[in-house]
Amino acid sequence: MSWRGFGMLAAVGAAVLLWTARPRDEGGAYDDYFRSLNEALRQSGPAHPCLVLDLDRLDRNIAVLTRSIRPPKHYRVVDKSLPSIPLIEYLFAHAHTDRVMSFNQPFLNIVAERLPRADVLLGKPMPVRAAEEFYKRLHGDFDPTRQLQWLIDTPERLEEYRHLGDTLGTRLRISVEIDVGLHRGGVTDVATLERILALIAAHPERLEFGGFMGYDPHVVKVPSWLRSRAALFQDVVTAYQGYIDYTRSHYSQLWNDRITLNGAGSPTYRLHEHVDLLNDLSVGSAMVKPTDFDVDTLAEHVPALFIATPVLKTAAGARLPGSDLLSQLVEWWDPNRARTFFLYGGNWMAHLESPPGLRTNALFGRSSNQEMVNGSTAVPLRVDDYVFLRPTQSEFVMLQFGDLVVMRGGKIVDHWPVFQE
Ligand SMILES: Cc1ncc(COP(=O)(O)O)c(C=O)c1O
Repeated sequence: MSWRGFGMLAAVGAAVLLWTARPRDEGGAYDDYFRSLNEALRQSGPAHPCLVLDLDRLDRNIAVLTRSIRPPKHYRVVDKSLPSIPLIEYLFAHAHTDRVMSFNQPFLNIVAERLPRADVLLGKPMPVRAAEEFYKRLHGDFDPTRQLQWLIDTPERLEEYRHLGDTLGTRLRISVEIDVGLHRGGVTDVATLERILALIAAHPERLEFGGFMGYDPHVVKVPSWLRSRAALFQDVVTAYQGYIDYTRSHYSQLWNDRITLNGAGSPTYRLHEHVDLLNDLSVGSAMVKPTDFDVDTLAEHVPALFIATPVLKTAAGARLPGSDLLSQLVEWWDPNRARTFFLYGGNWMAHLESPPGLRTNALFGRSSNQEMVNGSTAVPLRVDDYVFLRPTQSEFVMLQFGDLVVMRGGKIVDHWPVFQE
């Protein structure tokens, strides 16, 4: 074969290869679930970006959780991951608990005021000035001496809290943060625990020992080639048990029936099902299951929270500014760029969920005002239809949209406010 003939053959071969390497058309219409959400929102939704909370799906998650966390273990609602009083109240009623884990002072004051019978454990150690602010703003029936446990990680911080107790003339319940392998702080050795317990024991009028908090999400997050999940979990149990044993044998006077042995979180709570270590398990995100929680331990949980945002404009083609040729090339290469939609808002911590096959456009860029997304000709979106996204996490995203649009059976049944500082 001549060189020319060979060159032609190579060019045709490359073109065929390129053609077969093109992305396949992933577009489609809503499934029945999102079709009914879209219809309900088109009829009576807020006509701006909103968060849809699906109570039927939340109920399924509650059922999974309550099968797993059973007496004498208690469920504790993580407020930062579910920052809405009606949502926490719903969990109180349906998951049979009155326990909350709180992570910041303004939210702590809201919880104390709006849920005056709640049992609250702090999820992180706060600067003592934040604790002081909490007492300053506290009013109502919530009794911190019985209902609140501050989290303490060092003897120095405990000393500051003791001083606050003196100033306020009150007694503070203290839970001790222990490091069970996450290495995010907390007590790492018995000598430090000894100093903390000694201080509590020396000031019974100001300090009361509440228990321990040992958070363990690394058990699921650390890659198994580094250390197996079973070994990491065993480390958690051994470390936690060591702190319990030390306290019971050296400070038995501080031990009682009310001691809170808190731990776990969404990714790990199910690992504790067959272990008698904790009596108090915190879970937040798994109840709505954002994408960061697509882990095998939560396989039975279902997503229950979606961003829904109206389509403002639709157009044929990839619609890139500056070069029609580039748009045509992009469309030729990727059938999922054959239509363009501009959304009301965008650039959220979320992944496009429905209709299928939608994608953002890196060439056009992201926008918080009118995000461009593309889809194939199989995506039948019209102006005013809603595009649905799954948040990557709940804690920040839930604070960005105003009231939750609460749905059941495909109908809007309520609107629930979220926390506002
Ligand atoms: C101390 C502590 N416990 C529990 C959790 C679990 O929260 P979630 O279930 O939302 O992951 C967290 C999350 O950051 C935490 O910091």
